[in-house]
Amino acid sequence: MKTGNIYIPKPAVIEKVEVEEPETWTFTLGTPLEHTPGQFVEISIPGYGEAPISIASPSGEKLMLTVRRTGTLTGALHRKKVGEMVGIRGPFGRGWPHQEAQGETLLLVAGGIGLAPVRPIIEDAYRGRLNYERLLLLYGAREPALLLYKKDLDRWAKKLEVFVTVDRKNGCETAPKVWDGRTGVVTELFKEVDFSPGRTWALVCGPPIMMHFATKGLISKGVPLNRIHLSLERHMKCGMGICGHCQIGGKYVCKDGPVFSVHEALSWREIPDELEGVA
Ligand SMILES: Cc1cc2nc3c(=O)[nH]c(=O)nc-3n(C[C@H](O)[C@H](O)[C@H](O)COP(=O)(O)OP(=O)(O)OC[C@H]3O[C@@H](n4cnc5c(N)ncnc54)[C@H](O)[C@@H]3O)c2cc1C
Ligand code: FES
Repeated sequence: MKTGNIYIPKPAVIEKVEVEEPETWTFTLGTPLEHTPGQFVEISIPGYGEAPISIASPSGEKLMLTVRRTGTLTGALHRKKVGEMVGIRGPFGRGWPHQEAQGETLLLVAGGIGLAPVRPIIEDAYRGRLNYERLLLLYGAREPALLLYKKDLDRWAKKLEVFVTVDRKNGCETAPKVWDGRTGVVTELFKEVDFSPGRTWALVCGPPIMMHFATKGLISKGVPLNRIHLSLERHMKCGMGICGHCQIGGKYVCKDGPVFSVHEALSWREIPDELEGVA
């Protein structure tokens, strides 16, 4: 699918719904979309508005969106059934610099639903479409039940270096009965992994506090500021640099980002909260 007029949503049918955890579901839409990983689409439902959602599927494949129910639009989406329609505009924004990292080490640091925007890169690397010297995924969730893409994590671990941790072992009743994996916040994983900082590109996505500490950790490991990239989340309306809703430091997060290097963001007149005091 290529959306022609970027103002007009294109209809897309919901082909599959997978429950990742009670509040977060993955919707596969029946239309493929070309994009750069890290970009997002605006999904709409008449009467409920529009919301930016990261693209979780590799480019050219049926569009996969992993959506947490937080309010009006996302609530209405969770009430939709297979076979019903939604509107899609996009893709929008600047994605990850993952191509530049080929031949070197790619370190992905993701927290919670922040795994969605790096999923296309992991999937392409797993299938051999991207070639890294090493691909390390450090992924953390608050509790075992909140881990996304559980089957994918097991599959990816067969070829890639996958490290998963949870803040605490127990949680809601859907948690696996026994969690015998790691516990601790995702930045604890830095102690376990060894990488050459000058040959590493780090892509970070998750809650603001996690991005703050992950960036600090990467800097202290010696990764250069222009090799650390974050995906910033801000309130958006138009998604394409017109309304000004998402502005920070003179940049439009929707159009100039959502992906920015730490080097770039630290030069803005208004430093994003995520990076306050990191360097
Ligand atoms: C680039 C980008 C990519 C995103 N990708 C995903 C994704 O893959 N999956 C996903 O579930 N969510 C994602 N989000 C967040 C998602 O867009 C919001 O949760 C959604 O807009 C909420 O819409 P709503 O109508 O359901 O909620 P509303 O009824 O509008 O709001 C419900 C609550 O959520 C808060 N809220 C709304 N939007 C945001 C926001 N952008 N940041 C912080 N708080 C917000 C509101 O202040 C309010 O408290 C992304 C956001 C951005 C900017
Ligand atoms: S959302 Fe309108 S300018 Fe970014």
